[in-house]
Amino acid sequence: MIALKSLLVALSTISGALAATAEPELAVRQGPSTPTGSGNHEGFYYYFWNDGSGSVNYANEDGGQYSVQWKDSNSFTAGKGYENPGLRNITYSGSYTPGPRDHLTIYGHTQIRNPIVEFYIIEDYKYLLGNVGPKQGSVTTDGGTYDIYTSSYQSGIPEGANLQVYSVRREKRVGGTVNLANHWDAWNSLGLRIEYPRYAIVAVEGWSSSAGSATIKVE
Ligand SMILES: *[C@@H]1O[C@H](CO)[C@@H](O)[C@H](O)[C@H]1NC(C)=O
Repeated sequence: MIALKSLLVALSTISGALAATAEPELAVRQGPSTPTGSGNHEGFYYYFWNDGSGSVNYANEDGGQYSVQWKDSNSFTAGKGYENPGLRNITYSGSYTPGPRDHLTIYGHTQIRNPIVEFYIIEDYKYLLGNVGPKQGSVTTDGGTYDIYTSSYQSGIPEGANLQVYSVRREKRVGGTVNLANHWDAWNSLGLRIEYPRYAIVAVEGWSSSAGSATIKVE
């Protein structure tokens, strides 16, 4: 991970130099995305993926902090949090300047296949995926109310998730504490069988040629 961090620092130095000497719009659009990856960084789990479109620059910063800038990306996920978190509280803070189709979400996968589930606790969004089904219920927790949705979906992730569950916060925010246990209780009380998370990160996801930036710190 030290090698990767050095590489990320080197790349951001290069792109910084390019931005200083070239026409800024072009420099960003032509710049390479930083390498995708996942793993442990200073005691936190990070996950960064993009579909190769546009430019997405992700950097692990100290402890639970990361930053990401994106431009013309059709799809990416970037975030930091915990591996095998159990149903803990996740506290985060930061700054988030999204484009028109991005969202800030607690994101992860469950432990067990059949079905492995991708979960989202969406804190702030500009655009919700079109493929969510009708509202299934709601849960009041973490100082707000979240509406619950599910969708069946064959995702591109290697594990092949085939169900997604969403809690979507009505009172959008950037920063606070999310009590995973309350969301799990609410999801399972609807008859869903959502196993414990394999990892849970505080993530930014972008869609459809979006652009923006974020710096997020997980406690
Ligand atoms: C999460 O925070 C709530 C409120 O402070 C607390 O009651 C609960 O025990 C915490 N959960 C865990 C798993 O620590």
